[in-house]
Amino acid sequence: MEDRYRNSRAMLERARASLPGGVSSPFRAKFPVPLYFQDAGGARVRDVDGNEYIDYALAWGPLILGHRHPAVVEAVRRQAEKPHIYGAEHELEYLVGEQVQAMVPCAGRVVFTSSGSEAVQAALRLARAFTGRRLVVKFEGHYHGWLDSVLVSYHPKEAEAGPAGRPRSVLGSAGQVPNAAENVLAASWNSLEPVEQLFEARGGEIAAVIAEPVLCNSGSLMPEPGFLEALAKLARAHGALLVFDEIITGFRMSPGGAQAALGVVPDLATFGKAMGGGLPLSAVAGRAEIMDLLARGQVAFGGTFNGNPLSLAAANATLGELARGDGELLREANRLGQALMEGLEQAAEAAGIPMRTTGFGAAFSVHFTQRAVLASYRDCLQDDAARLQRFLRGMLDEGIYLLPDGRFYVSAAHGRAEVEETLRAAAAVFAREA
Ligand SMILES: Cc1ncc(COP(=O)(O)O)c(C=O)c1O
Repeated sequence: MEDRYRNSRAMLERARASLPGGVSSPFRAKFPVPLYFQDAGGARVRDVDGNEYIDYALAWGPLILGHRHPAVVEAVRRQAEKPHIYGAEHELEYLVGEQVQAMVPCAGRVVFTSSGSEAVQAALRLARAFTGRRLVVKFEGHYHGWLDSVLVSYHPKEAEAGPAGRPRSVLGSAGQVPNAAENVLAASWNSLEPVEQLFEARGGEIAAVIAEPVLCNSGSLMPEPGFLEALAKLARAHGALLVFDEIITGFRMSPGGAQAALGVVPDLATFGKAMGGGLPLSAVAGRAEIMDLLARGQVAFGGTFNGNPLSLAAANATLGELARGDGELLREANRLGQALMEGLEQAAEAAGIPMRTTGFGAAFSVHFTQRAVLASYRDCLQDDAARLQRFLRGMLDEGIYLLPDGRFYVSAAHGRAEVEETLRAAAAVFAREA
């Protein structure tokens, strides 16, 4: 049979000699066939073998307006003709800062950096400095970047993770400083009682509770009604801060992120991905009295590329588009994604395949499972991984490009035609399974 991915395979083979595993981020190596791309526009990408795909990976999130949105292209083109970096102040910094303040409820102040991993480090340093405490409560399955202090209990093996109600803090990588786990208290998403117990036992030492407000990095699991509110109340009662990692939900779930969509305002929040519309940019936003610890120099923070003009020009254009018409682009992307979730469930049911979708329209996951309840990381461990692999590969062959964990990101560039094409592809893949 003809190999549809021949050129990608050849390029990967060559790249292996200069790059570990042939890739720039090992997460990408997990894709059923790591593809090389040569072009993209709107919601579609083309690989080096000439195969075209509807893109639901969207560069792992940033492309909220799709590839090469005219407003972003124009803003970057104009900025590219000006100095690329000053390492000093320029107007776009406060223009984008004001835009974020106008959109995001918790944004008393905003600072920019380059990657989500850095933004989380800044937020947690601020939380520790503000409270004078050391410990951070973090939930199993949540991803807050690859750096030592937070790569704890991200995707622990069940055998190492301890009881579900009282998880152990498990390091995520060889070479990580072993005592990173000592600063993190792991908890189970959507289980309040164990978090209450952690606060009862060690409340005076806890600086912050950090969470993805929707657990996008492990199955796109929504918070159960009242859970985020209860976390906010608990943290406040004990003098700890609530930190939302909105690096996926920000400028995706709504123009004001999950905090606006779900009505729970954290003390601090991190943003990235969609914010830069495809260029590297992240931010911390939060209450002024916490953020201003940076102004007084009490909390160290830096970054050569912080606030760089090209990324901020792209963000200015992206946020302008997203804010327009009271957020109509994101409302439509979320509506379309919701239709896709329902259509995929119906297609699976028609084929007799146990499959569920979880999440919200613009970021959701498929689960091949019989489980009625999917509330936490552990609940997803029984998903049928082999069936997911067949689904991903089948969809890829049908021209649908997904993330390797079965996640779909929907952008403002997706339309009804893409949804219908995707549902036809899924029906064909499911028919081969049945
Ligand atoms: C919720 C969340 N936090 C933090 C990060 C880290 O961001 P970056 O990859 O830009 O360092 C990610 C990246 O996927 C993320 O999804």
